[in-house]
Amino acid sequence: MTIERRDFLKKATATTAATLTLSTARSFANILGANDRVRLGIIGPGARGQELMRDFVKAPNAEFVALADVYNARFDQAKQLISNAGADATNVKTFSDHRKMLEMKDLDAVIVATPLHCHARHFVDTLAAGKDLYCEKTMTWSIEEAEACLNATKKSKQVVGIGLQHNSAGYFAEPRQWAKDNKLGVVTHVEMWMSRNSKRGVGQWVRPIPADCNASNVKWDAFLNGRTKRAFDANKFINWRLFWEFSGGNVTENMVHQIGWLIGVLDLGVPTAAYMSGGVFSEKDGREVPDTIAVTLDYPNDLVVTWQSSFSNSRYGLGARILGSHGTIEWLMGTTDMVSGKATSGWNYAPEKLNNSNDVVVQGIAKGVNHYHNFVECVRSRKEPNSSAELGYRSAIAAHMANLSYRKKQRLTLDEARQAGRQLASK
Ligand SMILES: NC(=O)c1ccc[n+]([C@@H]2O[C@H](COP(=O)([O-])OP(=O)(O)OC[C@H]3O[C@@H](n4cnc5c(N)ncnc54)[C@H](O)[C@@H]3O)[C@@H](O)[C@H]2O)c1
Repeated sequence: MTIERRDFLKKATATTAATLTLSTARSFANILGANDRVRLGIIGPGARGQELMRDFVKAPNAEFVALADVYNARFDQAKQLISNAGADATNVKTFSDHRKMLEMKDLDAVIVATPLHCHARHFVDTLAAGKDLYCEKTMTWSIEEAEACLNATKKSKQVVGIGLQHNSAGYFAEPRQWAKDNKLGVVTHVEMWMSRNSKRGVGQWVRPIPADCNASNVKWDAFLNGRTKRAFDANKFINWRLFWEFSGGNVTENMVHQIGWLIGVLDLGVPTAAYMSGGVFSEKDGREVPDTIAVTLDYPNDLVVTWQSSFSNSRYGLGARILGSHGTIEWLMGTTDMVSGKATSGWNYAPEKLNNSNDVVVQGIAKGVNHYHNFVECVRSRKEPNSSAELGYRSAIAAHMANLSYRKKQRLTLDEARQAGRQLASK
């Protein structure tokens, strides 16, 4: 770990403590009324950031006032998007250093959609500046950072929401209610999976490098964010997802969504141990993060959760099955029948007749709520958003334990994972 990274974690604690008094005072002064306009800024309006902007720009009585990015090309793209949505982009301010944006007085909330290794810095800086925060999943790149960000949230009066949008959906609300209504009985095993395919020779996630993506258009040192300094590397900048220094691979991209859903449905804490196997098997294109993954997470009270993922077969899409002695909850997204070719999506409950003979099958129908608008509403009401920092923390810990187990090639408890994380970061 470079000195800058070690310093960041120390500073994260000190800065939050020192600035919280300031931010608390500010947040009281800033409390918005039910009809007040919410002024939004975003750090990292890249691919996901622009998707988020399309949703946030439609939130009632909200507007974008500022953009921060280290890549110049993003400003025109994001302003165009604002105009396309019928809003006025002429006064939207742009910053190549997010700290300058955070100094703005007329800014209420900040969306963080930067690469994973930058989340914690942008998270802590945003709270320290007294702004509310929507941070994309996975909440952080490491266990230590997840702990620092959760502590920062607890000491702050700011509203914090995480980009775990499944927890706002109907397929979250109803299964959670079914579990609360004790329809499952004893749950000892949950199986989950997520699978995609791509044309042979084309690695999942690989993005072309835009012609203008060069050292003069990118603040490369800010992207590195404390990683070892080196010359500009356009592939690492655009395809950061493929490399451990910046990413957690498919576990932090997708497992975290499903684990976040399950944590919310069953009220889970953090795993007692994790084991993950797999490798770079689908396309050997220079990536470090595995494309074929099998994770086993042990949870307290005799529960094992498995998650498997492939990038070279998409038949079963994404799904989860909560297996209880009294019933099963199934959530499917795009599972394709072998013979009819028909894809199934939905969520249902079915009783286990052996222990629960009077119960009946229930088909999920709830609509859910708009996850992004829920955050904006919480900025006004000061309530906790559907996906809280606590959920962000628990799901991040599960993801990091799994990845660290894979990298160490051994089963790890949380303490062992913390130690393994420190060892890997110091190399
Ligand atoms: N919730 C979801 O469903 C979902 C879906 C996709 C991606 N994501 C998450 O969104 C995040 C971004 O993913 P992406 O695919 O949009 O990546 P991306 O590379 O397309 O976008 C990242 C943006 O951040 C900018 N950036 C990099 N370092 C910066 C810094 N230090 N300061 C300011 N800007 C900086 C880049 O220039 C780029 O514009 C990731 O954490 C990813 O996991 C979430």
